[in-house]
Amino acid sequence: MVRLASTERAERMPARGMAQFLLSYFGYATFGLLVAGLWATVASISAVLVLLPLFIARWAFGQYHAQQRSYDATIAALCQAVETKDYYTRGHCTRVSLASTMIAQEIGMGAERLRAIRYAGMLHDVGKLGVPTKVLQKDGPLTEEEFAAIQLHPMRGLEIVRGIDFLDEAFAGIMHHHERHDGRGYPMGLAGDEIPEFARVIAVADAFDSMTSDRSYRGARPVEVAVAELHKGAGSQFDPEMVAAFVRALEREPWQPPRKASPPPCDETETTTKDHDDPTMPIEVVGGS
Ligand SMILES: [Fe+2]
Repeated sequence: MVRLASTERAERMPARGMAQFLLSYFGYATFGLLVAGLWATVASISAVLVLLPLFIARWAFGQYHAQQRSYDATIAALCQAVETKDYYTRGHCTRVSLASTMIAQEIGMGAERLRAIRYAGMLHDVGKLGVPTKVLQKDGPLTEEEFAAIQLHPMRGLEIVRGIDFLDEAFAGIMHHHERHDGRGYPMGLAGDEIPEFARVIAVADAFDSMTSDRSYRGARPVEVAVAELHKGAGSQFDPEMVAAFVRALEREPWQPPRKASPPPCDETETTTKDHDDPTMPIEVVGGS
């Protein structure tokens, strides 16, 4: 039976799928053997004894996956809420999450931390929800107060998601993603290894995606130009180890920049004039108002 079934499916199945298929047959056969073995002592309830734990395990596994899907949906909804504040940053959270995961894999993070950094990348700018839209959209230089409001977004982000306990280490990434390697970042001015690893990873991914995406005030830069900017900032703005890891990851897995953004469909669409993530065009700040 196994041979017939596998021959029929073999043409449609890749080698890995085939191995899984045969393995599952082996598993079922083992359960069959257990039922038969127990039959001698407990007769008809042997099937219940063997299969009940199996069904419970399967149900628990299904529940786990359903929970993961609801976590993902929650994070995606928060992400969507942030991106509605700026037409040009659509897809930014997802791409930062992807680039952060590439770096994290390159430096050898385990499965649990990879999941956490994926969430951290998605939510790194969630604090923008707490920054007045008129400040985000202001044309021209910002006052010191307005710039302070932007600098507060990592803390606001932490306040917003603090209650979501599955985020774990992602909190540190959200809180410190604008720290700089030389200690001149915000909100706490941490330097070098004082900056949590998640934040050092996200800082590189964030700047890279900002540079390779269209903004209202400039077009997307080519990947090579963005990589050159990362090299330029390595050791001052960025952790050189993370920049090197990202460059290696890009060599293995070329980056797909977002498609060219067409102009906003109507005048009411919100766009910001300056992107706080863009290392090539820092926000101008004028004396207090
Ligand atoms: Fe940010």
